[in-house]
Amino acid sequence: MSDPLLRTDSVTKRFGKLTAVSDVSLSIPEGGISSIIGPNGAGKTTLFNLFTGKHAPTEGSIEFRGEEIGGLSPHEIVSRGIVRSYQITNFFSELSALENVRLATQADRTGFGPDDFLRHHASLSDAADEAEAVLERVGLLDVADQTAANLAYGQRRHLEIGIALATDPDLLLMDEPTAGMGPEQTNATVSLIEDIAEDATVVLIEHDMDIVMNVSERIAVMNKGELIARGTPAEISENEAVQRAYLGGE
Ligand SMILES: Nc1ncnc2c1ncn2[C@@H]1O[C@H](COP(=O)(O)OP(=O)(O)OP(=O)(O)O)[C@@H](O)[C@H]1O
Ligand SMILES: [Mg+2]
Repeated sequence: MSDPLLRTDSVTKRFGKLTAVSDVSLSIPEGGISSIIGPNGAGKTTLFNLFTGKHAPTEGSIEFRGEEIGGLSPHEIVSRGIVRSYQITNFFSELSALENVRLATQADRTGFGPDDFLRHHASLSDAADEAEAVLERVGLLDVADQTAANLAYGQRRHLEIGIALATDPDLLLMDEPTAGMGPEQTNATVSLIEDIAEDATVVLIEHDMDIVMNVSERIAVMNKGELIARGTPAEISENEAVQRAYLGGE
C-alpha cells in the first residue's frame, strides 16, 4: 500500500477538562471519498479543526504527505493543499458569485509580496477564466453576476464549495455539505462531491447515512472523542460498536 495522504498518530484535543478528540490514530489514503461519522458531539468537527490549523493538538501528531502539520497556522496548512469547505457561510455577501470565486483563485496558495505584483497583475485574466470554470463546475455559472447574498441557500453552499475549489486543493474537507438541503439539491451536491473526488481526496463529515453508505470508500466512526471503528460501508453497517454508539448505549 502507498503512504497515506494524511495520518494522525494518537492525536488528542482537550478543551479544559473536556477531551473532544481522544487518542485518534487514523490514515486517509490518497484519492476518493473517506467519511467520518458519529453522533453529535463525537469530535468530528474538532478533528477537522486540528487538520486545518484552527486548533493545535494537545497531544499526538498529524502528518500530511509524511510531514508534521499539527499546530501549523491555517495559512501554512492551506498552502500545503488542505482546504476546508465551511459549514458556516464564508464569503463576501455583497460581492457577486464570480467575484467571490475570483478572489479565492487569486489568493495564491503560497501568498505573494509586493515583488509579485506585476506577475500577479498579468495573471488576472487567467484568474477570471479559472473562476468561470469553477462556477460552471459547481453549477453556478448562470448566477455568476448575482451577489452572494441573493443566492438561494443551496447555491450559497455550492459557492462555498467553489471558493474551496478555487485554491485547487489536494485534500478537501467537507463538514456536512448537504445540511439543510432538500432532496434535489442534496442529489446535486452529492454528484458534485463525487466529481471533486475524481481529482482530489475528499474527507466528508455527514449525518445522512444513505449518502455516507453510497459515496464512501471507507468510513471512520467517532464516539465521545474516540475512534471506535474503521472500515468499508458494509463493514461499518454491521459493526456492533457502531450500532451501540448510535443507539446512545455507549
Ligand atoms: N472551541 C471549543 N471549546 C470548547 N469545547 C469545544 C470547542 N469545540 C468543540 N467543543 C466540544 O467538543 C466536543 C466535540 O465537538 P464537535 O463539534 O467536534 O462534535 P461533532 O462530532 O462535530 O458534533 P456535531 O455532529 O454535532 O457537529 C463537544 O462536546 C463540543 O462541545
Ligand atoms: Mg460538527
